[in-house]
Amino acid sequence: MGALDGKAALVTGAASGIGLASAQLFAAEGARVAVVDRDADGAAEAAREIGGNAFSITADVTNEEDVAAVVAACVERFGRLDIAFNNAGIAGNAAIQDYPLAAFRRVIDVCLLGVFLCLKHEAKQLIAQGEGGSLINTASINATQATAGLSAYCAAKAGVVMLTKVSALELGQHGIRVNAIGPGHTKTPLTARARNVPGFDEAMIGATPLGRLGEPEDIAQLALYLAGDASEWVSGQAFYADGGITVNELPPGFNILEARFDNA
Ligand SMILES: NC(=O)c1ccc[n+]([C@@H]2O[C@H](COP(=O)([O-])OP(=O)(O)OC[C@H]3O[C@@H](n4cnc5c(N)ncnc54)[C@H](O)[C@@H]3O)[C@@H](O)[C@H]2O)c1
Repeated sequence: MGALDGKAALVTGAASGIGLASAQLFAAEGARVAVVDRDADGAAEAAREIGGNAFSITADVTNEEDVAAVVAACVERFGRLDIAFNNAGIAGNAAIQDYPLAAFRRVIDVCLLGVFLCLKHEAKQLIAQGEGGSLINTASINATQATAGLSAYCAAKAGVVMLTKVSALELGQHGIRVNAIGPGHTKTPLTARARNVPGFDEAMIGATPLGRLGEPEDIAQLALYLAGDASEWVSGQAFYADGGITVNELPPGFNILEARFDNA
């Protein structure tokens, strides 16, 4: 028996990386899954690979008509919606003084406004059904960890965590849980360019207590927990699946265990 038997789920950004691994795991655990992505071919391919009751929907999460159509398509296909993983996201990198407005706005639009639009239309459906549900948003360790060059991304992801809390507050009365996931550095196409920079992987691994980068499946396992009834008493929280990197606040390379000082 699967942890999500009988549930109807949608996953955005499911053509690739964390979303793809999560859609695969949700389906393996018994859910019927809508694979949502702006990449039509990637979404169709993912749905084909998952098989069973999975189907793909091409949608841009920054477009409200698209998002409304995604929820309507789930209801048409599955008769209901129980779980949504609002995970689509992009990265962007520029110094504050040089950040083009359009590029900054695009990151905010996809990573923050896209989550808002999904929550809005999913909540409407779940409230109408009257049987609760689980909504999960992808934030990042950058919701709490400032990183030079990532002003738009960090601001958007911090916003996702607060949006999650407010949604949990508003929707709890309907039995709807809302939580956020903050992945650490995970091996996906999103991070491929950064990981090509010499020394990047080594620096990240060196700062990570568990000593490796994340795999999309690491994040999918947390999404599965938050999606299913095992987390029925959990709402309004942000969980960081990051190998422990966010507890490492000292400068890289500094190890106080090796420093000599008198404890008395
Ligand atoms: N990989 C990491 O290290 C990492 C770390 C922290 C947070 N995240 C977050 O995890 C989420 C998934 O990222 P990933 O690493 O799997 O990246 P990815 O690039 O592998 O997948 C992102 C998917 O989102 C889709 N997408 C982008 N914009 C969209 C839009 N407007 N509408 C619909 N779909 C859209 C892309 O087509 C792609 O399939 C993102 O929100 C990202 O910010 C990733």
